Amino acid sequence: MTDIENEKIEIGLLLEAIYRKYGYDFRDYAKASIKRRILRHCNLSGLKTISELQHRILYNVQFFEALLMDFSINVTEMFRDPSFYGAIRESVLPVLKELPHIKIWHAGCSTGEEVYSMAILLKEADILDNTQIYATDFNEKIIKKAREGIYSLEKIKAYTTNYQKAGGNQSFADYYTAGNESAVMNKNLRANVVFADHNLVSDASFGEMDLIICRNVLIYFDRKLQDTAIGLFRESLPSGGFLCLGSKESLRFSIYSEDFEDVRIDEKIYRKKNSHG
Ligand SMILES: C[S@@+](CC[C@H](N)C(=O)[O-])C[C@H]1O[C@@H](n2cnc3c(N)ncnc32)[C@H](O)[C@@H]1O
Repeated sequence: MTDIENEKIEIGLLLEAIYRKYGYDFRDYAKASIKRRILRHCNLSGLKTISELQHRILYNVQFFEALLMDFSINVTEMFRDPSFYGAIRESVLPVLKELPHIKIWHAGCSTGEEVYSMAILLKEADILDNTQIYATDFNEKIIKKAREGIYSLEKIKAYTTNYQKAGGNQSFADYYTAGNESAVMNKNLRANVVFADHNLVSDASFGEMDLIICRNVLIYFDRKLQDTAIGLFRESLPSGGFLCLGSKESLRFSIYSEDFEDVRIDEKIYRKKNSHG
């Protein structure tokens, strides 16, 4: 048996141990990316083998929590891919505006930047007060940060540029209060936001949403797990409900592809078809 094959067995056993001990299921995450993170973690911790890592994970909760932070890859930005937010303004908000009440789900929202970006768009379209937003992630520590809505001033500078590129023409500074090093997003932006812990691998859907945004999350899943998540979104959308994925993601490889039509093919914005034809 080659070293590569042994390593594959060790990775399988590690992911099984994490699942059994802590309930987090990474067994169907994309193999290449999870392997990179495991090897990096071994390296940083001075461990020679993945089996040693497994032992540490099983007997040391803090060690597991550090690995979980690493596995969850929380990279995000406000108005990330500004043209996506321009497309939301143009092609989605006019439809949502017609609804008596709007429900939006941000799945895998990380530290919340995406959620505040959407709240700003909704406010500018005058429909924020009429909207309930669910912002979820499987990483509790990250959800706490999202709820706080505090970002470094350096990041805020880049976010201001993104906001303008996304077609924003108000004063972005009106949406936060700046301190010495960081800015706190205005409370009214999150007045109708419920931040909650939700795992796309193991938790159920929680009601009908008019718009689901799950960007740059499915990219870390293998094909089978992508189908599970897309199935969950399909279940959570009424006919005509919108689903948005990240720029490197698509639902055209999914078993549910036929159930969705393109709204903005360039921005990965889809709409659930009417199931009655
Ligand atoms: C790269 S970030 C994307 C953040 C944001 N959606 C964006 O596009 O900027 C991926 C997020 O997905 C979350 N995530 C990964 N696996 C998840 C799962 N099984 N259930 C819920 N969230 C998950 C991670 O914790 C992380 O915050």
